[in-house]
Amino acid sequence: MDWGMRNRLAGIISPVTGRCVMLAIDHGYFQGPTTGLERPGETIAPLLPHADSLMLTRGVLRSVVDANVRVPIVLRVSGGTSILKEDLSDEALTVSIEDAIRLNASCLAISIFVGSDHERRTLTNLAKLCDEGQKYGIPVLAVTAVGKQMSRDARYLGLACRIAAELGAQIVKTYYCEGFAKVVEGCPAPVVIAGGKKIDEREALTLAYNAVRDGAVGVDMGRNIFQSQWPVQMIRAVRSIVQDGTTDVQAWDRFQSEKDKGNK
Ligand code: R5P
Repeated sequence: MDWGMRNRLAGIISPVTGRCVMLAIDHGYFQGPTTGLERPGETIAPLLPHADSLMLTRGVLRSVVDANVRVPIVLRVSGGTSILKEDLSDEALTVSIEDAIRLNASCLAISIFVGSDHERRTLTNLAKLCDEGQKYGIPVLAVTAVGKQMSRDARYLGLACRIAAELGAQIVKTYYCEGFAKVVEGCPAPVVIAGGKKIDEREALTLAYNAVRDGAVGVDMGRNIFQSQWPVQMIRAVRSIVQDGTTDVQAWDRFQSEKDKGNK
């Protein structure tokens, strides 16, 4: 792996801990003004000091993120669908490699829809993006998106993660599930988990804890942070699990005491 690729990856996954806290705010690319992201600049300002990297689209990056902020950018480069359509899998590449370089992206994120009507297209998009990333030393994060008709079990997610890694993704994002350790074992690239729909803070911390216990290198979490009533306390608690090795019980105690103190 060349120096640029290794250097960019080191900005995403800490070379010291081997772990990562990625803050995801790219939801608007198909969902529009997602709850909590109506004014994304205001949402992320207090959260960025606690995130290792920020995952978002170029439009939000250009319009609300101060270029002086030194956070590695995971740039979403696939899209072309909206929640108005039944089938979200018909994605294309939406950003050129030149623009990604211009935006100083540390990583390129693309969804794949294994088992969907557009499986082949999304997988060949991933392969092409990995070729472009290789040319310029930019790693690719494959997002194993789950269509309405697909189940989030270890068999399906394990298949999707393995295919993503085989096609060249340097990092793979998936969902936590029963038998998650097998999903990680079967994937030669580091795995991060998405948080999914907003759940109770206590449960979200257990989700993060179980994921790293079972082999994930960290989280790419969005709604369970920015839709919490206490987003700063939440990202700090998640970070303590991922980067400091605390348990979910310890992180929950910390969350509660910081919440009570109104710690920003
Ligand atoms: C899909 O909308 C995106 O790739 C999200 O970044 C991903 O699902 C992670 O966000 P959340 O934790 O809200 O699921």
